[in-house]
Amino acid sequence: MFDAKLEYYSSLEHKVRWGIINGAQSTDVEGIMMNEKKSLIAANWKMFKTLTEAVSFTESLQREVGPLEDREVVIAPPFTALAAVRNAIWRADFKLAAQNCHWEEKGAFTGEVSGAMLRDVGCDWVILGHSERRHIFGETNETIQKKLAAVFRFGMLPMLCVGELLDERESGNTFAVIGTQLDRALAGLDADRAGQLAIAYEPVWAIGTGKTATPEQAQEVHAFIRERCASLWDKMIANRIRIMYGGSVKPDNVDVLMAQTDIDGMLVGGASLEVESFKRIVQYQPFGETN
Ligand code: 13P
Repeated sequence: MFDAKLEYYSSLEHKVRWGIINGAQSTDVEGIMMNEKKSLIAANWKMFKTLTEAVSFTESLQREVGPLEDREVVIAPPFTALAAVRNAIWRADFKLAAQNCHWEEKGAFTGEVSGAMLRDVGCDWVILGHSERRHIFGETNETIQKKLAAVFRFGMLPMLCVGELLDERESGNTFAVIGTQLDRALAGLDADRAGQLAIAYEPVWAIGTGKTATPEQAQEVHAFIRERCASLWDKMIANRIRIMYGGSVKPDNVDVLMAQTDIDGMLVGGASLEVESFKRIVQYQPFGETN
């Protein structure tokens, strides 16, 4: 394991990825890693948790998890619990996310919530284009692109979800599907903002099914996403983008997933609903180290 870690730190790709260029010393590697790019461990609670449950979870998790230097926790409760969870967050390494937003600031859009409102309530992030929104509620790449621009406009950061259906994977179309999702949702995004993005790869066949992509399958798609971002902007920007994995992430698979070169975070559904399991995911040990 130690050898794998050394190799990881010293590979040229990682030096570039973590901004270790322009004369920085190799001894700075760990420090630069910590400072430059924190991994994101996000809890997507979907349509779960009452106010009381949401607050109680947020309080417990903050108490139980030690200081985090190289990672941040993001909690995405349902809209109804956003304000209460915001009030319950006291740690700087805990952030708040909404699960969706409308692209207009205000207007006659019954049932919608705007980016301005989400910023007002104190959201840092907004999850966009989740497969449940695409496949159950008919969201398109075009509306996701408008939402993504709005999230930046209102001073928050988007966590853009992409992912293929099982038949798309089986027919060999994974990269084509994800490439199109990226190209359309990210159309017109300028380079300054692009580096702040998070992109979550969530294979639809792995969501809530107990089937996880193998680390190799996930890494392959993450590398593709990074390359696509490099072609949309440039390599430095692509290397700054946090690319998260989602789809049946559990305490027993998080370490090996987080050890992959291009996996910079986790977007967790079911296993984020219990403090014990999410706490273990937050405390992942990417190189399989034991205590
Ligand atoms: P599960 O972790 O329950 O598979 O859900 C993944 C997901 O959809 C996170 O956004």
